[in-house]
Amino acid sequence: MTNLVLNSRDAMPNGGTITIKTDSIVLRENKASRNLGPYVRLSVTDDGNGMPPDVVERVFEPFFTTKPVGEGTGLGLSAILADAKNAGGFVTVDSHVGGGTEICVHWPQVEGTTEPADAGVECVSHPTGGDETILVCDDEAVVVDVVAGLLKTLGYSVICATSPNEAIETVVAHGARISLLLTDVMMPDMNGYELAAEVTRLHPDIRVILTSGNAQDGSAGLADMNGPFEFIQKPAPHDVLARLIRDVLDDRTGIDLSLNVR
Ligand SMILES: Nc1ncnc2c1ncn2[C@@H]1O[C@H](COP(=O)(O)OP(=O)(O)OP(=O)(O)O)[C@@H](O)[C@H]1O
Ligand SMILES: [Mg+2]
Repeated sequence: MTNLVLNSRDAMPNGGTITIKTDSIVLRENKASRNLGPYVRLSVTDDGNGMPPDVVERVFEPFFTTKPVGEGTGLGLSAILADAKNAGGFVTVDSHVGGGTEICVHWPQVEGTTEPADAGVECVSHPTGGDETILVCDDEAVVVDVVAGLLKTLGYSVICATSPNEAIETVVAHGARISLLLTDVMMPDMNGYELAAEVTRLHPDIRVILTSGNAQDGSAGLADMNGPFEFIQKPAPHDVLARLIRDVLDDRTGIDLSLNVR
């Protein structure tokens, strides 16, 4: 929601009106008939510059931005779409040059109530934050910044590296402190799997999560080098990434080491 409002603000350099609305709707048979049923809708509308069709088409692409370098990561809307999809929802964009923009996030309505559990009933959910130290490695500094920001808000200490060599130097210097390496797969000089192998050779206790925008990087292509490491596709909804990190740190992922036997 903050990102939607910031996008609207950025589209109105001379000021304007931003309208935020929530409502419940029931989508019946229509042109978007794959999304039928009751939804909760959040809409953010502005009367700013609007977007031409070729920009509208690309707004959900990770890293797509029309903002100057350093001002936009291009991850805002792709993360919103990933979060909505993760909950079974979807996002629509209606925008015209000079005519403003309306972005609507839809979440499916859930049957039943969400009464808080009775006191005394054991709660099965686990915390998603922690106080361990995580080493984040990605050759795109802006990605490192975004991920580091998220991890810090979850309570973790974060060390950043923008190359595999920098990550290895950090492990040599501070390895005992580092609980987890979160690394991109495709990087110049060395890929994430090679980095993971080197890091775990130096410090076998360091857990590893690999991440890539390409789902293939988590399976077929690099399978031979694929050690017992977790993989998550970018951009990942923040809560999913937070959950995976906690589970890996707590050994709750049920990794089957036999997968590694050839
Ligand atoms: N309300 C809007 N009005 C006009 N253009 C918009 C609006 N919302 C998004 N856009 C366009 O979509 C692009 C992608 O938006 P997104 O939120 O994903 O990334 P960003 O805003 O560029 O970067 P970040 O969110 O990291 O600051 C923007 O760069 C802009 O061109
Ligand atoms: Mg944005």
